[in-house]
Amino acid sequence: MILLKKDSEIAKMRESGRIVARTLRLLSEAIVPGKTTTGDLDALAHRIITEEGGVPSFLGYRGDYPASTCISVNEVVIHGIPGPRVLNPGDIVDIDVGVYKDGFHADSAWTYPVDTIAPNAQRLLNVTREALMQGIAKARVGARVGEVSSTIQRYVERNGYSVVRELLGHGIGRDLHEAPNVPNYGRPGQGPVLKAGATICIEPMVNEGTAKIVTLPDGWTVVTADGKLSAHFEHTVAVTSDGPELLTVE
Ligand code: MF3
Ligand code: CO
Repeated sequence: MILLKKDSEIAKMRESGRIVARTLRLLSEAIVPGKTTTGDLDALAHRIITEEGGVPSFLGYRGDYPASTCISVNEVVIHGIPGPRVLNPGDIVDIDVGVYKDGFHADSAWTYPVDTIAPNAQRLLNVTREALMQGIAKARVGARVGEVSSTIQRYVERNGYSVVRELLGHGIGRDLHEAPNVPNYGRPGQGPVLKAGATICIEPMVNEGTAKIVTLPDGWTVVTADGKLSAHFEHTVAVTSDGPELLTVE
């Protein structure tokens, strides 16, 4: 069942979302190529979120997620655990942040270039970001989730890339993960109808090569099966009678 939020609840999610967006911006600005580690960024995120009166949504998730953020470099698709890895020129780095405040979560991710990156990497970032934006545009009252999903898939595949199937976008609110599932593939007629007050995370994960993924023995880190690049962009979106509203913005 999709839990529809009242305006007062969406206002709370807007505040959580503002903190998420601010955290992403400050982390991206803090990267010193060849020096900053993913663990440095995670520590900074914890400090920013806490100072803003929030709690990192991911810390302790599923009982054991050990960090405040997920930071996924190059062939890491999602759920990279921050640690001693140094961010080097040419890397692409997906920073995924969730914030819980006043009873509500917001969740967003962005893949940033570290210094100068190769043209193929830049194109992957452009296509993945545009797939997210085209999907968001379909998140309107009366539309089925499948319209979002199929729009993302069509745009990605038309550009020669593949969408990851095993990991999905999701509803969000009092819980980080709520109904409905928001796949990045499918057909327009599939899935539930979106109503005003639905709040969803749309988050395409796009691979340069095969769609196949492998989870590493740490139980979290998901990598591409062929070692090629992957990118990920995510926003929390409210479906309103005035159209989709981005909640994870400053
Ligand atoms: N953006 C991801 C999601 O919505 C991040 C989850 S990280 C986890 O599922 F640690 F919370 F699993
Ligand atoms: Co998410």
